[in-house]
Amino acid sequence: MVDSRAFGQHFDSLDAVIGWGHDVIFGTAVIVLANRAGVTARLLAGPATAVELAQLAAIPADKMARMLDFLLAHEVIARGREGAFMATARTAIMLEAADFFTITEFTNAAGPQLLPALQQGITPFAARYGVPVFDHFHAHPEDAAKFGKYMGLMTRRVEQFIFRQHRFGPFATVADIGGSMGDLLLATLREYPIARGILFDRPDVVELARPAITASPLAKRVEIVGGSFFEQVPAADLYMLKQILHDWDDHECREILACIRAAMNPGARVAIIDHVLSDVPEPSESLSTDIAMMVWDTGRERKLGEFSALFAASGFRIDRRTPNPNGHSVIELVLG
Ligand SMILES: C[S@@+](CC[C@H](N)C(=O)[O-])C[C@H]1O[C@@H](n2cnc3c(N)ncnc32)[C@H](O)[C@@H]1O
Repeated sequence: MVDSRAFGQHFDSLDAVIGWGHDVIFGTAVIVLANRAGVTARLLAGPATAVELAQLAAIPADKMARMLDFLLAHEVIARGREGAFMATARTAIMLEAADFFTITEFTNAAGPQLLPALQQGITPFAARYGVPVFDHFHAHPEDAAKFGKYMGLMTRRVEQFIFRQHRFGPFATVADIGGSMGDLLLATLREYPIARGILFDRPDVVELARPAITASPLAKRVEIVGGSFFEQVPAADLYMLKQILHDWDDHECREILACIRAAMNPGARVAIIDHVLSDVPEPSESLSTDIAMMVWDTGRERKLGEFSALFAASGFRIDRRTPNPNGHSVIELVLG
């Protein structure tokens, strides 16, 4: 588990905070370049010199050498034989996290808009990009694809927890609402081999997901449905909403839950997979993603009591909950 308390400790001195800030800001720039240019993947395939890596990235060799020194100093890569550089275990993680670092470009662009946007009553994302986040992705499929890959990474992180710690009762059809590229749905169908699945997301998003779903050996068990969860969702026995409610304010969440209520099969359950904030603020990833939701859209992370009140106002109650102190918890809802 990451020690989030370290954030505050950087503010013990001006030198500490500036050193840490430089590392994070410029280190991220180096990592994005290395991942995007194929430098990380090349090092994972075997040792390479700065000149070879500079050629790969099509940038000057002296500048590549300086960036490699940065990664070397932080032991993200290691020195190989005859002046070459080589990968370490950290290099593999740097590549695994590539989609996370890519998405920071949006947060870095929208984050500085926090003050003027909140003063105007709009989201920082809309202040920077002109429209709300999912409308931006509709107009920019290349950005939507980056976001979809990032969500896949976030799903892989929590998959083990969802399937090992929390067992769902029997269900015939599962609908992943706002299921993005289908990562969670496919993982669910692998775990529950008799079930059928519905991938539900905005029409433009399901078209981005379609090629990978169609190519999957599980394709025959998947139905792809495009639409809006503010209007209508398909009938199912189990609904999964992973990192959906946290995108929206309470009023919008009630609209989403009302749509599900109207569509659900008798006895259906709704699995909310989201961070749950502790009642007393303490350092955690969820407090950071709460701020992220303020930057990206109208949503928020919620405490358990806030979730319960939201569900009660929508005609649901919590039946089971599997808390995850390190990430997203599973909260299973039933009517009542
Ligand atoms: C934060 S992502 C979560 C994706 C996925 N559930 C996961 O956890 O990886 C939010 C998802 O909601 C989808 N979405 C946004 N507005 C929607 C709408 N009105 N109807 C259906 N899906 C929507 C987005 O396209 C995106 O895939």
